[in-house]
Amino acid sequence: MVELINFLDTLYEKQLATLTWRNAEQVAKYFQIKYIEEKIHKNWLAKLAMPNPKAIAFFIRINGQDIGVTYFHSIDHEKKQTDWGIYIYDETMRRKGVGKEALSECLRYAENVLKLNMVFLEILESNVAAKSLYEKFGFKLIWQKGNIIRMGKTLKPSYQ
Ligand SMILES: CC(C)(COP(=O)(O)OP(=O)(O)OC[C@H]1O[C@@H](n2cnc3c(N)ncnc32)[C@H](O)[C@@H]1OP(=O)(O)O)[C@@H](O)C(=O)NCCC(=O)NCCS
Repeated sequence: MVELINFLDTLYEKQLATLTWRNAEQVAKYFQIKYIEEKIHKNWLAKLAMPNPKAIAFFIRINGQDIGVTYFHSIDHEKKQTDWGIYIYDETMRRKGVGKEALSECLRYAENVLKLNMVFLEILESNVAAKSLYEKFGFKLIWQKGNIIRMGKTLKPSYQ
């Protein structure tokens, strides 16, 4: 069973170490930004600890082992929307249903805890695995610019 562990409930050293995961070739190749500098990573970690944070990150834990990261960013409580991302660092743990479980849990969190209406994400056009996963969850094309695809999913009708 997949557990999502909030970064804020873990040691700072452990949070810092995710930079190595994010910059590893098997993860970075799926992202628009291929290399994150330590300073940028530390700034991002600092944002997680602010009141009403615009970003929330979780370790993806399975059988007691942390194998990846999933996160909300650009959370906008006024517009009731967020962007979302995920990577499973341990390649041997991919294609075993972890992505599905993590996404499902994150959508529940966005709706029930953050009380948001929309979740957006961006992928590289070449990332057929991620695109297929997101389509299965009902994400629809918002726009495509070059090789970047933005998709969105409504969590519940907005009555405003
Ligand atoms: C994208 C990612 C999170 C998916 O997680 P996962 O645990 O491997 O995916 P799951 O096993 O839950 O599979 C869910 C669905 O995704 C799709 N999928 C996953 N891996 C796939 C692959 N290698 N080829 C094609 N489709 C794939 C399938 O539709 C699959 O459903 P199915 O098993 O019913 O066919 C994972 O592959 C990953 O971390 N990739 C590298 C980082 C990345 O691409 N992040 C997203 C950036 S936007």
